[in-house]
Amino acid sequence: LDEKLYCFILSKFRLNKEELKEVMKRMQHEMDRGLRLETHEEASVKMLPTYVCSTPEGSEVGDFLALDLGGTNFRVMLVKVGEDEERSWKVETTNQMYSIPEDAMTGTAEMLFDYIAECMSDFLDKHHIKHKKLPLGFTFSFPVRHEDLDKGILLNWTKGFKASGAEGNNVVGLLRDAIKRRGDIEMDVVAMVNDTVATMISCYYEDRSCEVGMIVGTGCNACYMEEMRTVELVEGEEGRMCVNTEWGAFGDNGELEEFRLEYDRVVDESSINPGQQLYEKLISGKYMGELVRLVLMKLVNEDLLFNGEASELLKTRGSFETRYVSQVESDTGDRKQIYNILSSLGVLPSELDCDIVHLVCESVSTRSAHMCGAGLAGVINRMRERRCEESLKITVGVDGSVYKLHPCFRDRFHKVVRDLTPHCDITFIQSEEGSGRGAALISAVACKMAAYML
Ligand code: BG6
Ligand code: GLC
Repeated sequence: LDEKLYCFILSKFRLNKEELKEVMKRMQHEMDRGLRLETHEEASVKMLPTYVCSTPEGSEVGDFLALDLGGTNFRVMLVKVGEDEERSWKVETTNQMYSIPEDAMTGTAEMLFDYIAECMSDFLDKHHIKHKKLPLGFTFSFPVRHEDLDKGILLNWTKGFKASGAEGNNVVGLLRDAIKRRGDIEMDVVAMVNDTVATMISCYYEDRSCEVGMIVGTGCNACYMEEMRTVELVEGEEGRMCVNTEWGAFGDNGELEEFRLEYDRVVDESSINPGQQLYEKLISGKYMGELVRLVLMKLVNEDLLFNGEASELLKTRGSFETRYVSQVESDTGDRKQIYNILSSLGVLPSELDCDIVHLVCESVSTRSAHMCGAGLAGVINRMRERRCEESLKITVGVDGSVYKLHPCFRDRFHKVVRDLTPHCDITFIQSEEGSGRGAALISAVACKMAAYML
C-alpha cells in the first residue's frame, strides 16, 4: 500500500498505550472536577447524581409501563415484574417500536411530548389496558440534573434532538403535561433514568457485581456506583449512589485537542451541537460512518482511491452509514459486501479500493473502541482506588448498536480496558431489553419504598 496513505492518513487514528493512559488520566481528572461542588459547573464531565442508590432489596410485583427515548428507536413497553420459584426477579416484556418523526425531534417540546403520549395511548389501546393507571418508568437518554428519582431538568439535548422549550425544564413535568393534554390515559410516572442506568440495573438483577452501565450506540456514555460521600452535589455519606457521568461531553473544555483530527473537526462543525459532546463524536454510531466518509473523500482528493473520483452520493454528507462500517469489517475476504456497498454509493471500486476502504473502516472503528476503552478504564480504576481494594471484581452491563452489532468493536474494546486496568477482574454482559427492564425494576423498587413511607 501507498506509504503516503498509511503514514500521513491512517496512522493518525492509532493511539499507543501512553496516549491511551493520558486520555484515561484526563478523564479521571474531569470526573473528579464534576463531582466536586466548587468545580462542578465548569467541568466537562458533569457526573450527574441519579438518586438511584445502593439497591435496597425487594420491590413491588405487577405491571409497569416503560418508555425508552433517546436511542435509535423510541419504544413503549409493558413489563411484568414478578418472582419465580427461586425468589429471584423475573421480568417479562412486550414492546412496540415507534419512529420519531424529524419534526418532533427538532420542533417544540410540546410537539415531541404530545407525540410520545400519542404512542403511549396507541400502545395501551392495542393491549387493552387503557383503563389502567400503571406506574411508569421513563428511560430518557440525555443529560438530566435530577432533584429526585422522578424529577430532573434537561441540561442540553444531544444526538440530533433539538426540541425547543425542553432544555432547563423538568422532563417528567413535560411528560405529565402531555398526558394531561390528551385526557384519555392516566399514568403514575415514578422514575426517570438514563439509558446507562437502566442498563446497569437490568444487569444487576442477573449479577450483583454489576455496578457499571455503558452505552455505545447512537451516543456513548457510562454510569457507575460512586461512594455517597464523594457525590458532593447530594447530601449524605452512607452507601453508594449511581452517577451518570455524561462522559460524551469530555473534551468540550479542550482536553482532547491533540487527539482530534481534521475529520473530527468537520463532523463537529457540521453537527447540530458544535463544540459539544466531542468525546462522543470520536466514538459513537451517530458519527462513525460520516468520519469514514470524510477519510474516503480525503483519499480521493489525494488521488489514492477510486482513481481520484468520487460519486455525487459519496460526496453527500451522511451517505456512508455507520452500519456500513460493520458490514465492511464483516467481509470474509471475498470483498463482495464491500463491493456492493460501494456500488450502491455510485462508485466502481477495484480490489485495492475495497481493501483501502476496509482499512479506513478499521482505523476509525478501532480508534473508537480504544478511546472508549480508555474512558471505561478510568472509571473502573477510580472505583478500585476509592474502595481501597487491592483487586476489584466488577461487572459492566453494556448496550448499544455499535457494541452489539460491530463485528470487532467488542474485542478491541475489552482488550484495551483490561490492558489499562491491572488488578481488576472485569466481566462484560450485554443487556437484553435493558432499558425497559431497568426502568421498570427501578420503578418497582420506588413503588415499594413509597409504600413503606405511607
Ligand atoms: C437500547 C436501549 O437497547 O440501546 C436504549 O433500550 C439505548 O435505551 C440504546 O438508548 C442505545 O443504543 P442505540 O444504538 O439504539 O443508540
Ligand atoms: C448521549 C446522552 C447520554 C446517553 C448516551 C447514550 O451521550 O447525552 O445521556 O446516555 O447518549 O445513549
